[in-house]
Amino acid sequence: MTLYLIGTGLNDERDITIKGLETIKSCDEVYLENYTSLINCSISDLEKYYGKKITIVDRKFVEQTDELVNSSKTKNIALLVIGDPFGATTHIDLMLRCKKESVGFKIINNASILTAIGITGLQIYKFGKTTSIPFPDKNFRPETSYEVIKQNKILGLHTLVMLDLKPEQDKFMTVSEAINILLEIESRKHQNVFTKETFCVGVARIGSDDFVIKSGIASDLLKEDFGKQPHSLIVPGELHFVEEDALKMWK
Ligand SMILES: C[S@@+](CC[C@H](N)C(=O)[O-])C[C@H]1O[C@@H](n2cnc3c(N)ncnc32)[C@H](O)[C@@H]1O
Repeated sequence: MTLYLIGTGLNDERDITIKGLETIKSCDEVYLENYTSLINCSISDLEKYYGKKITIVDRKFVEQTDELVNSSKTKNIALLVIGDPFGATTHIDLMLRCKKESVGFKIINNASILTAIGITGLQIYKFGKTTSIPFPDKNFRPETSYEVIKQNKILGLHTLVMLDLKPEQDKFMTVSEAINILLEIESRKHQNVFTKETFCVGVARIGSDDFVIKSGIASDLLKEDFGKQPHSLIVPGELHFVEEDALKMWK
């Protein structure tokens, strides 16, 4: 039997691929991990369209238990991942565990934010390392995102900054929260990497009909309302004139 890792696509129930839908319909059990991204429809919309009951699972279930791998020894199991299964770094481990246990494993790819951001006009092959901003707390104020932006800038490359989510608390980071966190890091480090004058691009709900893309300096983007999450922030590096032209569309 097989563990299928299936991308739902970015926006709603209708973004599933035909192969993904056929596989879901043939599976004995269907799970959705909702901790690496946010889909723009309800679970009951997914259940209705896919014709299957869906069980929501958290990071602990997927990464720290063997339930999925063990069940796939005797049943066909689908684990749905919002976007593309490998748009998040966490799922390679499942593949390795299946291999170790001689359990069948198949991937059904779909669209990912990693490529869909091409709609901004920034060229995908000019992005450097992707980074993410976690929700800070008293004892946890990581500066990795700032460092990644700095390194990418040195190479003239764009940075895609993914924003934290805590679905169990219904918390999804916004573009303005991300900008404020980066400005706060700048105020500690003073390296002129991300200031109020830094040109950036905020995006929301890419892949949906009501997606939002806005470009401008950080202090202006702070005042913009991007609407519902998921949001991402892009800090462009050196711009080709075609990229410059394209970004004017979103001013
Ligand atoms: C870990 S990534 C997971 C990506 C997903 N597996 C994929 O392939 O697109 C999740 C983050 O990507 C960004 N993101 C995902 N979908 C998005 C969308 N449709 N529009 C804007 N940002 C999005 C958000 O910052 C979100 O917190």
